[in-house]
Amino acid sequence: MSDKIKLAVLGSGKGSNLVSLAEACAAGMLPADIVLVASDVADAGILERAAGFGLSARFIEPGKFRTKLDETAEAAYVAALRESGAEWVALAGFMRILKGDFLRAFEKKVVNIHPSLLPAFPGLEAWKQAHDYGVKATGCTVHMVDHGIDTGSILAQGVVPVLEDDTAATLHQRIQQEEHTLYPRTLARLFNGEIRV
Ligand code: GRF
Repeated sequence: MSDKIKLAVLGSGKGSNLVSLAEACAAGMLPADIVLVASDVADAGILERAAGFGLSARFIEPGKFRTKLDETAEAAYVAALRESGAEWVALAGFMRILKGDFLRAFEKKVVNIHPSLLPAFPGLEAWKQAHDYGVKATGCTVHMVDHGIDTGSILAQGVVPVLEDDTAATLHQRIQQEEHTLYPRTLARLFNGEIRV
């Protein structure tokens, strides 16, 4: 029996963070097995990327709402995650708010990466919010997921300076590069017991 953490990853987008997590697992840097990658978007890049790593990848219907899972969908996500044996859930660009039964089913076991230095710029397109505001530094935050929007305890942050000639797009690219080292490194510290929640 592997003593590695069984990790599920949920995402709605291209899946670059999934790639960094899968590579860190393969390199033995992150003591986890990714047991399921699930998405609310049928043709999301993250599912293709997951399949490329030979990981189990599933589209799961999100239900009738646009920004959250409805009750039936939430139950389907919990059931799929349970079936996979997942102990921890890493959100990697999952564009729906998780609440209620989902968070109760994985209490204090859901982690997210957000593209700003929280508590500044929660919500959507945080890199654009930071760029528009004119801050001189921003970055990314790995945090626990609670019932609020980007409000859970902060586990780690990476700082990215805003350059004179940055556009929102170039800033976003550099924030993502930082995410790709911060997320696997932080999960490794968490699973090794070096960070207490
Ligand atoms: C990341 O920038 C993350 O901070 C945000 O969603 C994005 C996901 O990107 N929550 P990817 O799908 O991992 O490339």
